[in-house]
Amino acid sequence: MAQAGDLITCVTAYDATYAYWIGQAGVDMILVGDSLGMVVQGHASTLPVTVNDMVYHTQLVQRGNDQAWCIADMPFMSDCTLEKSLETAARLMKEGGANMVKLEGGQRVLPMVSTFSQLGIPVCGHLGLLPQSVQKHGYKVQGRDEVSAAVLLADALALQAAGAEMLVLECVPSALAKKITQQLSIPIIGIGSGSGTSGQVLVLHDILGVTVGKAPKFSKNFLAQSGSIQSALQSYVADVKSGSFPAPCHEVG
Ligand code: KIV
Repeated sequence: MAQAGDLITCVTAYDATYAYWIGQAGVDMILVGDSLGMVVQGHASTLPVTVNDMVYHTQLVQRGNDQAWCIADMPFMSDCTLEKSLETAARLMKEGGANMVKLEGGQRVLPMVSTFSQLGIPVCGHLGLLPQSVQKHGYKVQGRDEVSAAVLLADALALQAAGAEMLVLECVPSALAKKITQQLSIPIIGIGSGSGTSGQVLVLHDILGVTVGKAPKFSKNFLAQSGSIQSALQSYVADVKSGSFPAPCHEVG
């Protein structure tokens, strides 16, 4: 799809019913995000999410999902050693039924990405704002200065070389996200990173305008102008596919 210029859509889901309707709306990929720690479990961050939580929610999603590619997040500290990360990825695929696993970070995760790739485990990287590193870096736009932008590009290229087959770029200036997309051959899925990527991902609760507290500036409440959850999801797909979402007003830096 990325090579054909067909913009890719992704939405987070955590249960069977939403997974079903997300698929019916024509969303290409479902991310069982560890954002479930915040939007489902009510924690202040994603850090408390366990591997059991991720396996359980991936199972729920896969019971309702009959068409979208399903990516499951490796939760905080489940990838801190190669052995642990292999156990986690195996559980997410064998018990959860995920098609792909996603892990946060650059240089640190290269050995995991390379081993997964050799074992036939499709892997998605995640660079930019890393919610699992919030205690160290905060929820801040990443790659604003020249040095950090160069590190992000180098990390993206290294992940691709190690075998990553997709990359999520979160809260990166749109010009940098576009440059990374142009320099890599794998699909780059943006969130808060402008419109120059191969596709977009949003958290379901932001799309439906039910986020507790302030919704991120880069998100859009698609339910506000739709009569139903189903048509809100269809509008999200139509707007991403046509390039009208994200608009310049959704850019973060
Ligand atoms: O956990 C999640 O929902 C994510 C997205 C924000 C990309 O990783």
